[in-house]
Formats: sequence, C-alpha cells, structure tokens
Amino acid sequence: MSVPTLTPIPSMSEQRSTVRCASCGATLDDRTARATCPNCGGLLAVEHVAPKAKGAALRALFDERLGAASYRGSAADRSGVWRFRELVLPAARPEEIVSHPEGNTPLVAREAVASFAGLDALRLKHEGHNPSASFKDRGMTAALTQARRIGARAVACASTGNTSASLAAYAAQAGIPAFVLVPEGRVSTGKLAQTLAYGAHMIRLRGDFDDCLELAREASEQLGIYLVNSLNPFRVEGQKTIVLELLQQLGWESPDWIALPAGNLGNTAAFGKALREAHALGLIDRVPRLLAVQAAGAAPFAAGFSDDFATRRRVRAETAATAIRIGDPASWDRAVDAIRFTQGHVVAVSDAEIFAAKRVVDACGVGCEPASAASVAGVRTLVERGVIGRNERVVSVLTGHLLKDPDAALAARVAGGHGAEEPLTRDEALGHLERVLSSSSR
Ligand code: F0G
Repeated sequence: MSVPTLTPIPSMSEQRSTVRCASCGATLDDRTARATCPNCGGLLAVEHVAPKAKGAALRALFDERLGAASYRGSAADRSGVWRFRELVLPAARPEEIVSHPEGNTPLVAREAVASFAGLDALRLKHEGHNPSASFKDRGMTAALTQARRIGARAVACASTGNTSASLAAYAAQAGIPAFVLVPEGRVSTGKLAQTLAYGAHMIRLRGDFDDCLELAREASEQLGIYLVNSLNPFRVEGQKTIVLELLQQLGWESPDWIALPAGNLGNTAAFGKALREAHALGLIDRVPRLLAVQAAGAAPFAAGFSDDFATRRRVRAETAATAIRIGDPASWDRAVDAIRFTQGHVVAVSDAEIFAAKRVVDACGVGCEPASAASVAGVRTLVERGVIGRNERVVSVLTGHLLKDPDAALAARVAGGHGAEEPLTRDEALGHLERVLSSSSR
C-alpha cells in the first residue's frame, strides 16, 4: 500500500477555508457536515485563504507537480484534482484524502469533429477517462474526503446515473455506506450496473430526477446522512479542476470558449468559480466565455438566459440524453453568476442535434455518451448563428464515456459501421466480408 506523501508546502498547514451561504451570508467552519445552509437552506460556497504563491509562481507550483511524483507518488500525488489542492480543500490532511486517483484526462483534437462544428480547430476535454468514466469523480473525491473528515455515517445522492456510479465507487474506497436515489426507467444500464457492482444501496423512485433530489435532501436532513449532490460545496471545489487542468494543458493560455452540457448546473457553477479564481490569482489573464448547452426538452436555464434570468424557471424534463433530463436545476443562482461573470451563453439543442454530434464524436474513435455530445452540438449551433467565429479557440467538454450508454451508442451508430444483424455461418461471414470490402473500395 502506498503511504500518502503529499508534498507539504509552507502555506498549506495553516491554509484554511470558510464555508459561506450565498443567500444569507452565514459562515461555517470547513469541517461542516452541512451540504446546504442550516439557517436558510441556501447554497453554500467554499472560500479558501488565497495561497501565498500567485500568478507565475502558482503556475510553476502546479506544473512542478507533473513531475515524477505524478507517476510514483500517493494516489493524491497522482491525482489531477489534488494537484490543485490549494484551490480544492487545502486543509485536508493526506490521510483524509479519498483518491482513486482521478483527473489527468486527455485533451484531444479530431478534424472531423471540428469540421462538423464549423470550426478551424476544436479540442475535446474527455472526462470520460476518469475512473468511473465520467467527470463526477472529480467532485466525488473532494466530497468523500469531506465525508471522511466529518466522520459521516453514510452518504447519499439523487442521480441520473453518473453521480451514483461515482459515489458508489468512492464510498466503497472510503468504507462508508452509500445510498442512491435514481428515477424509475431512463437510467442507462451501464450506470446502474456500476452503482450496484460498487456496492451502493440503490433505490429506484417512482418519479423523475427532480423528485429524487427533493427526497434525498429531505432524507439527509431527517436521518443525518451526508448529501453529496452537486449542491454540496465540496463537489464544486473538485469539479473546478476540469477547468484548471485544461488551462494547464493549454500552457495557461485561455481558449475563447469552454462548452459543456448543463443539467443540474453544478458543473456550470464549478466552471464559473474556477475561472473567477484562476483570474483573481493570476493563473490566466483573460477569462474564456462559458457555453452551457441544454437539451431542448430540459432547458429551463436556456429559457432563463433569453430574458437575462429575470425569473427562475422549471420544466417537466424530457430528453433521450438521460444524464441531463433535469427540469429544476439546483445550482441555478451559482450558474447564473458563472454565465454573467464569463459573458457566457446558454443554448438549447434538440435530441436530433445531440445525436448527430454524438455520431461524429463516436465515428472518429473518441466516443461519448449522449449528454456529452450536447457540448459539440451547442458549439455547432452558435457557429451557425455567428456567435462563435470559425477561427475562435474552443474546448468542448465530453462529460462521460461512450460505454456509459451502450444502447444509445448502438441506436446511433453510423452507416458503414454496422455489422450483420443475425449471426452468420462461416461461409456467409466470408461472403459478407467480400461484399463490404468491394463496396467500400468502389
Ligand atoms: N453530462 C453528464 C454525462 C452528466 O451525467 C451530467 C449530470 C451532466 C453532463 C450535467 O452536469 O448536472 O452539473 O449540470 N449528471 C448528474 C448525475 C445529474 O446524477 O449523474 P450538471
């Protein structure tokens, strides 16, 4: 077993954080077991004492950690989340950290995807390369670390599937019982299989995601179970590192746009907070614009954007991109702040547009789950509308792996990539191969 060897830095031991309610201003200690404000139920945010190093010195510190320890150190030393620990949870002691490790996901470019989107170049930040195959692991390592710090007796979440798989994996590692609430039907088999295999207690609720979240909040309140949905402020801290890592991969040169799929809006909120902090600390000198993309059947935030968020909206959600089938997003206010701060944009795309994008991402050998492809579909829409220029630098975040939803991948497969429907005999198989070869060489 590897011994935690987090490299101490002088400021780390005394660098503490405060948890503050965005609605009523109440402050809590960074060891709080509350996921929402005990006074008013509002959303909490973690504020760190700024690290001593700033600008180039802080960039150098993060870059230095990409050295030998990032291969040979403890899980936390190898993690693409804890590499940025001053901005995640600086007070966590090495023995408290629950890390797989996670993060260190690739930034890839494929011409076919760029040309589909109408851009000269487009990069894909593939968060499906995390241990449970979605970006949720970045928030979950922070949330389970906090669960261990507060001695949580159990952890719980509501989920469209990915959060539950990630929670199940990290709770298993931490040795803390996990309860997940998922909507009946509409959660992909891959995600259910992961959740059960990792050993979580799963409850399928008669209702949709929004009903599950309401019940999870109530149950955690009544039963003292630690709630780790993305309204949990420590989840947000971990998810910020998607942005920090992609900026680091770009040599701390900001792209013009970062596009992501948006459902419950936890990730949009995390991206906004990451960019605000990265700019304030001098890690970057220009703030990229965020593009949050919703499925048209689950697009209250896109509707809100069209009237400058005059009112909070909720809808009854329906989309085949089941991961983002959410009608009443919990992190609404934080996400509004993220869009305003980055002069960002919110757009809705149809399921047909999402699946068209997915086919292109899949067919170039990268692949992603349906909801993830929204971030490519949304870029294409804004290029068509002239909001994004064809030579602007854009990063689309692919939030989950293709194998999360194999049924959707089979249903969306491209012409030319299909096999025979029925099992064939040896001779039929040879005949089939010949026919395919001669038709493709024509
Ligand atoms: N992409 C994928 C693959 C997701 O699983 C989710 C959310 C999102 C995008 C949207 O992120 O909610 O922060 O706006 N999945 C949650 C879950 C709801 O339970 O797994 P968000």
